[in-house]
Amino acid sequence: MAEEAVLGYLEKNEQIADSGVFAEEQGISHEEIVNIIKSLNAFRFVEAQVLSYPFSQSEMQDIKKERWKLTEEGKTYAANGTPEFHLFMAIPPEGIPVGELKKKLGDLAFKIGCKQAKDKDWIEMGKSISRKVTHVEDDVKAMLVKINNGEALSKEDIAALKKRNLVSPQIWKGFSVTKGPNYAPKRTKPATDLTRENLQRGEWKDMQFKEYNFMAKGLPVEGGYLHPLLKARIHFVIFPFLYSQCTETDANDFPSNGVIFEEMPTNNYVESSFWNFDALFQPQQHPARDSHDTFFLREPSTTKELPEDYVARVKQIHESGGHGSRGYGYDWKREEANKNLLRTHTTAVSSRMLYALAQKPFEAKKFYSIDRVFRNEAVDRTHLAEFHQIEGLICDRGLTLGDLQGVLYDFFSRLGMSKLRFKPAYNPYTEPSMEIFGYHEGFKKWVEVGNSGMFRPEMLLPMGLPEDVRVIAWGLSLERPTMILYGIDNIRDLFGHKVDLGLIKSNPICRIGLT
Ligand code: PHE
Repeated sequence: MAEEAVLGYLEKNEQIADSGVFAEEQGISHEEIVNIIKSLNAFRFVEAQVLSYPFSQSEMQDIKKERWKLTEEGKTYAANGTPEFHLFMAIPPEGIPVGELKKKLGDLAFKIGCKQAKDKDWIEMGKSISRKVTHVEDDVKAMLVKINNGEALSKEDIAALKKRNLVSPQIWKGFSVTKGPNYAPKRTKPATDLTRENLQRGEWKDMQFKEYNFMAKGLPVEGGYLHPLLKARIHFVIFPFLYSQCTETDANDFPSNGVIFEEMPTNNYVESSFWNFDALFQPQQHPARDSHDTFFLREPSTTKELPEDYVARVKQIHESGGHGSRGYGYDWKREEANKNLLRTHTTAVSSRMLYALAQKPFEAKKFYSIDRVFRNEAVDRTHLAEFHQIEGLICDRGLTLGDLQGVLYDFFSRLGMSKLRFKPAYNPYTEPSMEIFGYHEGFKKWVEVGNSGMFRPEMLLPMGLPEDVRVIAWGLSLERPTMILYGIDNIRDLFGHKVDLGLIKSNPICRIGLT
């Protein structure tokens, strides 16, 4: 209605000289008229008329008038009367002791009332208070009511009310308005979409479209955030494994230098005990093969097939050895090897890869994987029954322990850890084995960062790999470095059903290896 009034008026008239007068004439609130003028001005339907300098062309001409509005105190008096009036009315003809009147009115009203009534010469103060006149008018209340009704008061009256802080000035803002360059008697909203109906009815010919705002930020994406583990994973792959191909370092100075790391197919959480343990020369009585440490499958409980000739060689190396080894000297059972489990390490995949490699003419290889493994462990702030393992291995002729150490230095320095220490360790499938410790600059201490070793001949030779082929390998968890990177001290805050989705949305990009 206000919009029609403004645009309609300008159709027949040069200008709206004063929005306040206009609002009154139209019987529309001034606020409503002003809002419409602002909106029409933004789209240049209307514009300010340059009345006098120093206003710029585009500036609306403000018309300012001073108006008065009641303060909170003023509003109460306008509604209920002033304290001085109440005080006067509370004084009986014979007068009243001060204390009694105070009690009647309350401290504040008494104080204000006394002062004003005394100034007005309405009362007499002694031990008791008495009236000086017989009749009074609450003139202040009357003035306040007038202001409320928009009636004008004399300058002196306003000054008096202002002094008592009963009124405060209200700057009144209005505009003078003329047609703008986009003026039309009716505003049609520019369309944001072209609909089927627009096309069918032929409306598209005359339609005005809203311009694209290429600077608009767009809505925040509601899904598709990367979990911190995925971000860390990307960097563990890119920097140490993939990027290591591109540089020449002493650490890479062995025959397979230049061979690209290939990702191993880790897409089987269910594995047979054979590939997870037996192929890795892990004896069947080994405590890790207990159900306290490993999740065995009830259904299907056993594997369907294994490479029989290789199984026979594995049985033999366990029972009586070979290739210079004495074996373990126990009765190796096929049923134990057949048992299905959730793989306890990705080294199970490494054993499959190496076996497959041994079936073809030898070729130097580098493999890596980052995927999930499972262990039947009590869950606490640093342990879960499943986590992610990063695994790397290089197989080539004549590799040495020095090569393994060099590769580990190269690998970890790309992750920002260049001080390493190695501690002799034991794995059934590697000899020698080394735990890897890295110096954490933030914690100022050595922290265990991984496990490594050279695969044993008892593992490699039954597979059929040439005698001079050595395999250096290492493994670490993805969770541990990710927790350190993101400052998370409880693994359950990083992984599993207790993770706060807010963390997933807001966690920053991972910057390891970039510094
Ligand atoms: N499989 C080992 C583990 O689970 C890691 C490892 C991989 C050790 C390769 C040596 C060689 O801790």
